[in-house]
This record gives sequence, structure tokens and C-alpha cells, in this order.
Amino acid sequence: MSSLTIFNSASAMRFDLAGSASRISTSSDAPGGSSRFLLDRPRRGRASDLVIAQCPFSRDNFRDGHPGRRHQVKIDPATLTAGAAYGWQAATILPRPIAWTSTLNEDGTPNLAPFSFFTGVSSDPPMVLICVSRRKQQPDGTRPPKDTWRNIERSGEFVIHVVNDALGQQMDTTSREFPPGTDEFAAIGLTKAASDRIAPPRIAEAPVAMECRLERIVEVGRGGTAIIIGELLLWHVHDDLMIDGRLDLSRLDAIGLMSGCTYTRTRSRFEMRRPPQK
Ligand SMILES: Cc1cc2nc3c(=O)[nH]c(=O)nc-3n(C[C@H](O)[C@H](O)[C@H](O)COP(=O)(O)O)c2cc1C
Repeated sequence: MSSLTIFNSASAMRFDLAGSASRISTSSDAPGGSSRFLLDRPRRGRASDLVIAQCPFSRDNFRDGHPGRRHQVKIDPATLTAGAAYGWQAATILPRPIAWTSTLNEDGTPNLAPFSFFTGVSSDPPMVLICVSRRKQQPDGTRPPKDTWRNIERSGEFVIHVVNDALGQQMDTTSREFPPGTDEFAAIGLTKAASDRIAPPRIAEAPVAMECRLERIVEVGRGGTAIIIGELLLWHVHDDLMIDGRLDLSRLDAIGLMSGCTYTRTRSRFEMRRPPQK
């Protein structure tokens, strides 16, 4: 029934997208259309261990108490650490598409990384954005931009790929930090395909690739996150995904990110008619 359950034990709040974390890992074909699954990410906790926010108040303090109304839990970002605020964003802005992004490092080696703070922004011309944060604090106290940010700022070019179910685990592996000079395509067994209009290569196995040129970077927030806006120059689509000139979503089989290590498949879809315009 409820898709978001909040526990409040020992003043810690936990997210659980199904009401029971153990159900998440086996829910891909569950009745009722549930289509979530966990990708193993050994460096981080599983979704069931994900403590999203330390709650400084008892739950009763948040209740608005109107008779006949569902109680509300209010979350004030001003009371949260940046990490906890991120957790709430991840669990409430979803499902998110994944921009699996290819760039070139300064030494010419290709770099891959996934970004789920990703969306389209305009259509004339088509533009997309990804949001890239900084690395965690280094021993010298600095928080340098992630490689994708630096590479796009320097070269102005990147390729965004759609992630399908078959590529999920490889996509996740590219969220690791690889030693400088590593060709991440070769490291995880992906094939490079030349792009037509820009230098960074595409992932040949990805069902869709979008060649992009940097439009602008806008830095926001106290931690310094880059909103990277790019103009979409060219789509590459595997031809076996097309029917009568249209993309067949069943064959695309895209996945999206829910929260933590929990992903969603796009196999359960439905249509809703828009009301007629007056
Ligand atoms: C599915 C997924 C989505 C992610 N989304 C983001 C994001 O939106 N922004 C971000 O800064 N990092 C995100 N990350 C983490 C980056 O992929 C990770 O920090 C990566 O090492 C960055 O690589 P780079 O230094 O080569 O750019 C995500 C990781 C995963 C697995």
C-alpha cells in the first residue's frame, strides 16, 4: 500500500521503499507490477542498511494532528546534514534515468561514470543536463571536481548512454574510482565505437548513445555541484530497437535508479489519456 515507510527507532529514520528491505531484492517479477532490484555495490551499504537521516525530534513533533487527515512527517533540510538531505532527495525524486557518461581524460584515455541527477531541458535545440558533485574531502582539505566534470569543462564534449538491464552491473562498476590512466571501456569489457561529431568514444553495447557538446556549466550549492548543460548533437540507436521509425520501449529495456542501490526496470508500463484541450 504505502511505498514509503519511515521508521523512527533510536532517533534514526530509515527509508524502505517496499516496507520491507528484504523484499526489494527479490521483487523483479512480483505480482502487482513491482519491478525493483538491487545492484550489488560492495563499497557501500545495502538499501536495508541505509540510514537516511538522524532525526533530532520525536515523531509526534511533526504531526499536524487534523482529525480525519493522514499524519504528515515534515523534513526540514535545515536540520539535516548534506548527506542526509541527499538521501531524502534520492528517495523522493524518483525513479531517475541514468546518464552513463563517456568523456576523455587529459591523457586521452576514455572515462565512464553514471549520473542520475539527469534530465532533458529544452528541445529547440535538444539539450540535456547532468549534475556532478565534487569528490569527498581529500587529505589536503580540498574537494576537487569529479573527472567527468573536469573533462567536460576542458574538452566541451561528452556522450550520454541509456542503461538497459543487461548493462546494469557494468554501469555500476564505472561508478568506482579507477587509477589514473585506466581505459574504463577495456577494464570492464565494453567495446568502443567512434562518435561522429565529437572525440569521446561511445559504448557500442549501449542501446542508445547521445553525442553532446557543452552549452554551459552552472555551479550551485555550498558544496559546489556543477549543473552541466549540453546540446544534443546526434542520437545513435540500435536498429533492432526500432519499429516503424519509433523506439520500442520494451526492447529498450531501460533501468532507472530508485534510492541507494535499488533500481527499477521499465517493463511494467501503462497509458493514461490526456484530457482533451478546450
Ligand atoms: C546509478 C548511479 C548514479 C549516480 N549519480 C550521480 C550523480 O547524479 N551525481 C554525482 O555527482 N555522482 C553520481 N554517482 C556517483 C558517480 O558515478 C561516481 O562518483 C563516479 O566515480 C564519478 O566518476 P568520475 O570521477 O570519473 O566522473 C552515481 C553513481 C551511480 C552508481
